[in-house]
Amino acid sequence: MTDLQKTGPIGVFDSGYGGLTILKEIQRHLPVYDYIYLGDNARTPYGTRSFDVVYEFTLQAVSYLFSQGCHLVILACNTASAKALRTIQQNDLPAIDPERRVLGVIRPTVEILNKISSTGHVGVFGTAGTVDSESYPIEIHKLFPEISVVQQACPMWVPLVENYEGDQPGADYFIDKYIRLLKTKDRDLDTIILACTHYPILLPKIRQFIGDDVKIVCQGEIVAQSLSDYLRRHPEMEKKCSKGGNTTYLTTENPQKFSRLASVFLNEPVSAVRIEL
Ligand code: DGL
Repeated sequence: MTDLQKTGPIGVFDSGYGGLTILKEIQRHLPVYDYIYLGDNARTPYGTRSFDVVYEFTLQAVSYLFSQGCHLVILACNTASAKALRTIQQNDLPAIDPERRVLGVIRPTVEILNKISSTGHVGVFGTAGTVDSESYPIEIHKLFPEISVVQQACPMWVPLVENYEGDQPGADYFIDKYIRLLKTKDRDLDTIILACTHYPILLPKIRQFIGDDVKIVCQGEIVAQSLSDYLRRHPEMEKKCSKGGNTTYLTTENPQKFSRLASVFLNEPVSAVRIEL
């Protein structure tokens, strides 16, 4: 087998459309590589599912991406990063193939927090799964014990995105509601993390209701920079990433529906293919 045959695309996985907010920035920062985006739209949302189910679905997706030649997979999903990443890294990868890697989105987001928040009062919006896992407070306090963290689960935000309702007037009620709930937990917040990759699609309305004095952390740029740094520090993995500048889009739901929304969001034609996990 030649070196060229051993290379493969970088896998980017999410429960649905949300990971496109990460993929878009990764493509912008690292246009040279090939990518496979996989959205498990048929089984979204993950955020209300149990630990075991999120783990099982995520492992199926990662295994599928490996079968398509990916050596490196990014879980562009906080819920999967919170509930499945560690088990996959520690228990599954050594058995599947110790040379392959799966990376998440929580650690890179947390690492730069001290550069963003000036008061040390941070709020986290996430799915119920991410919030209940306590992953953000735990990871933040490992690095920055002085930062105070409050969290708010927003179970209605992912359905708004998945059903194309995010920019409609009906979305206002739920956007405002969760922002108010978070603010009652800490009136001095200067930074909030959109700790679900779907939420940046709601950014215009979130900005409208939260006001201009709060910094909003979106993960796309952060994860893209972290991936770029990772590939620089791991030349052995970088060599295994194929460089054709192409992206393949896979979904477990209707591919026409996926292609329509993804084309609008990415501002380029997308032609998705349906797969089963
Ligand atoms: N986009 C995902 C996240 O970052 C999950 C959304 C969901 O399926 O509930 O958490």
